[in-house]
Amino acid sequence: MGGARDVGWVAAGLVLAAGACYCIYRLTRGQRRGARRVGLRPSRSAEDLTNGSYDDILNAEQLQKLLYLLESTEDPVIIEKALVTLGNNAAFSANQVIIRELGGITIVGSQINNPNQSIKEKALNALNNLSVNVENQIKIKVDSSFLSLFDGHVAKEILVRVLTLFQNIDNCLKKEGRLALQPAFPEGSLFYLLYGDECAQKMRALVYHHDADVKEKVTMIPKF
Ligand SMILES: *[C@@H]1O[C@H](CO)[C@@H](O)[C@H](O)[C@H]1NC(C)=O
Ligand SMILES: *[C@@H]1O[C@H](CO)[C@@H](O)[C@H](O)[C@H]1NC(C)=O
Ligand SMILES: *[C@@H]1O[C@H](CO)[C@@H](O)[C@H](O)[C@H]1NC(C)=O
Repeated sequence: MGGARDVGWVAAGLVLAAGACYCIYRLTRGQRRGARRVGLRPSRSAEDLTNGSYDDILNAEQLQKLLYLLESTEDPVIIEKALVTLGNNAAFSANQVIIRELGGITIVGSQINNPNQSIKEKALNALNNLSVNVENQIKIKVDSSFLSLFDGHVAKEILVRVLTLFQNIDNCLKKEGRLALQPAFPEGSLFYLLYGDECAQKMRALVYHHDADVKEKVTMIPKF
């Protein structure tokens, strides 16, 4: 008799144990699943963002980290990598807006003044990708020394890129019909520099540049 009650308790105990096991199973499985989910998108440090998979599309928080890194480091290797990553991300129109809103145009633009040619190039690449957005163009304030990049003796790699920037801007303004409204460009803006007399002179000289790629770019901006 007592035996039957004992069996009952044992059975109840088994049910409880099974329940507990199931709960523990659910908990650990949930945790493992959660861990895997976090593992897919680990929170990466700013420097990590600059290496490996450049084709990852970064979110606003990651772009901010990257811009902060760019502002705070003097290491040319890190600056260059950060600019490449930003440039690749700037190929996406949503990111063009985010980077502008984070103040990124000025941060990237300031690297054009970097004496390191390799960094200058990457900054211009990034700016070129950012410049297909009209509102971004307005934010590019690069100063009058920017025009010195249009001199004939400037390295071809740089020349081709500044001409591409000019071309992007020219195409956008034409599409908007804003070139007809000239001369409405505010002094100090990139537009004012690019459509001013000094730049026109430089462009006319570049038509005779010895490098075919440079020549071709110049003639693709039809005004000159
Ligand atoms: C990126 O570089 C960091 C060191 O800066 C390193 O710890 C990390 O493992 C690297 N990541 C990849 C994906 O190469
Ligand atoms: C220029 O930057 C490149 C790329 O980061 C770097 O490897 C090189 O050492 C730098 N050159 C100078 C003169 O600092
Ligand atoms: C700029 O965008 C193009 C695609 O539009 C992409 O191929 C390129 O890698 C991007 N980055 C740079 C640095 O040019």
